[in-house]
Amino acid sequence: MKVLVATDKPFAKVAVDGIRKEIEAAGYELVLLEKYGEKAKLLEAVKDVNAIIIRSDIIDAEVLDAAKELKIVVRAGAGYDNVDLAAATAHNVCVMNTPGQNSNAVAELAFGMMVMAVRNFYNGTSGTELMGKKLGIHAYGNVGRNVARIAKGFGMDIYAFDAFCPKEVIEKDGVKAVSSAEELYAACNVVSLHIPATAETKNSINYELVNKMSKGGVLVNTARKEVINEAELIKLMEERTDLKYVTDIMPVAHAEFSEKFAGRYFSTPKKMGAQTAEANINAGIAAARQIVGFLKDGCEKFRVNK
Ligand code: 3PG
Repeated sequence: MKVLVATDKPFAKVAVDGIRKEIEAAGYELVLLEKYGEKAKLLEAVKDVNAIIIRSDIIDAEVLDAAKELKIVVRAGAGYDNVDLAAATAHNVCVMNTPGQNSNAVAELAFGMMVMAVRNFYNGTSGTELMGKKLGIHAYGNVGRNVARIAKGFGMDIYAFDAFCPKEVIEKDGVKAVSSAEELYAACNVVSLHIPATAETKNSINYELVNKMSKGGVLVNTARKEVINEAELIKLMEERTDLKYVTDIMPVAHAEFSEKFAGRYFSTPKKMGAQTAEANINAGIAAARQIVGFLKDGCEKFRVNK
């Protein structure tokens, strides 16, 4: 069996070594395709492989067509919006993610960005502290829970909204569960986004919702750019010069955000929430183990295209 690690944004070497160990211990071969840039290289590399480990790499119908021997794709990470699930199912390919494995890394980055925003991007002027401020966690999944844990250390007053998580589950963590996104944004000084990009969530962070935030509000996005209605956020930030937007996923309209909102906007050049050695090791090795479990024993735990 041949396993391909196809990562345009490579894992740390220590994680690749760990993945190799798992794959070779199972008697399989590991091949690496890193920083490939063009899709043609991916199409060539997938031709004879039985399994693929990816990150945000796009697996669409064309890639699946080219991968004649493919049985499983594991997205080493949480969000699998980069994989065409219907096409994978049609090609009889199992798709999995590795939930929770990189969530602490993403949560820590959310705080890095929060501190940067409330300290005015370290421009030397007087900022504010996070202690005592109201933090809204928009979606209480693995990352949201880690954000809540860290927020306690900062002494924040923590709120969360998750349409799919029972209020009791949220409240047992000492977090105030609210009934709607509108309520969350109206209650909080800082909102941290942890929603996936789905048909329902795309463009859902819009003018009306963010405008509910109190004066000096900070929106932190370590989730997906697609959930933001960029045109509406730009319009709102033009009107409300008190708002700040910090993101780990560069908007399509990055140039416009940068030009219009200097001192109130920041984007990392490349999504780096999960870009830590620990997260790479956790997610990469989990992916390798899931592939071995699937190919050897037919284990489908974490399958997302049921
Ligand atoms: C995820 O969905 O797991 C995160 O967004 C991390 O994505 P990455 O592996 O592309 O950094």
